[in-house]
Amino acid sequence: MKNSLTKKKIILIIGGGIAAYKSLDLIRLLKKQECEVKVVLTESGKKFVTPLSISSLSQNKVFHDIFDSEKEAEMDHISLSRWCDLILYAPITANSIAKLAYGRADDLASALILASNKKIILVPAMNVRMWLHKSTQNNINKLLDFGYLSIGPSSGEMACGEYGEGKMSSPEEINEFLKNYFFERNIVKNKNLKALVTAGPTKEYIDPVRFITNNSSGKQGYEIAKALAKYGVKTTLISGPSKLKKPENVKIVKVESADQMYKETKKNLPVDIAVCTAAVTDFKPEKYEKIKIKKNNININFKRNIDILEFLSKNNSQRPRLVIGFAAETNDIIKFAKEKRNKKYCDWIIANDISNPEIGFNSEFNAVSIIDNNKIEKIEKNLKSYIANKIAKKIINNFTQ
Ligand SMILES: Cc1cc2nc3c(=O)[nH]c(=O)nc-3n(C[C@H](O)[C@H](O)[C@H](O)COP(=O)(O)O)c2cc1C
Repeated sequence: MKNSLTKKKIILIIGGGIAAYKSLDLIRLLKKQECEVKVVLTESGKKFVTPLSISSLSQNKVFHDIFDSEKEAEMDHISLSRWCDLILYAPITANSIAKLAYGRADDLASALILASNKKIILVPAMNVRMWLHKSTQNNINKLLDFGYLSIGPSSGEMACGEYGEGKMSSPEEINEFLKNYFFERNIVKNKNLKALVTAGPTKEYIDPVRFITNNSSGKQGYEIAKALAKYGVKTTLISGPSKLKKPENVKIVKVESADQMYKETKKNLPVDIAVCTAAVTDFKPEKYEKIKIKKNNININFKRNIDILEFLSKNNSQRPRLVIGFAAETNDIIKFAKEKRNKKYCDWIIANDISNPEIGFNSEFNAVSIIDNNKIEKIEKNLKSYIANKIAKKIINNFTQ
């Protein structure tokens, strides 16, 4: 198989941390795979590694001055970002993590990132206390929320003699991550993958003022749509009523009722991937009353709503190649989820326990089991964005064959 890193153009920013020496080895590794590497060195970085070692290894000049008097017209902070396939910041210090979190641009490295239209991957390295400090944790989470990726840090003995989390990942680990990153994006690009995600509750009106619905926030579905779009998958999100913000690079279609969600789902076929996270209200009033029902007249009959997951799974002419359903259960979770998978003919069922108030409906957290035939993969309690990224990664890898 062709190495996915071959001919890739990488900007490597080296910050002022003791681990900067590892980045010299990383340059060597990348060059061996025919990557073109241009290095930006921060002022503090120069105290740890020399521009001469870097230019010898990268076979390129080293960039460090935002006001380069020899090339006033070129504006490196813009041209470098447009030239590369991705920007890797390794090691990034606590100081620069804080700077980026606040959008500062007072040197070439930070200006380049602020002006960038490319994926940014951070490799933090610092003392364990610096890393675990609330301020660093808040800052790094902010950057992850911007869509930046991070590698490590790992745990172990540090240069300062203390022990804990904060060590820079090894050049080999970073190399593996990058290879995987380009490999997954190549799959999406070459196969031109398209996805449809349903999310949120549906609202079934009884009369002009009353309706039945449920407590779904739509958060997990929005995060899955966002994660798929980050991989470059052309994603349409069909959303029931939700207060959430439209995810970047996702086409959104807002609906209210299950019937509207079904209609829009049909309209947006064909796709390669369908992820049905919506908590579609199972039933609706048999008859919609155009005039408000008087309060002494409370006999309402209900009928079943259309099952969108089953429709997609059994749709012979336009069945997505991968149909994924969600099963929110309160007991015998795996058993009921397996039964649902068999009944609905979908490929994977993702089960979660909604009896636990810390996860699931209206929580920032979730914990799921992905049931794929007889295999069960558990993802322990974590942020819904984390779970979504894991699911998106598994979806993309499903298309490698
Ligand atoms: C010997 C020494 C080692 C350092 N190692 C680290 C480190 O590993 N991680 C870190 O975040 N800061 C480290 N610092 C502090 C940074 O060098 C300092 O915050 C600097 O301003 C970072 O600049 P930069 O973010 O522009 O690269 C170290 C400082 C010294 C003197």
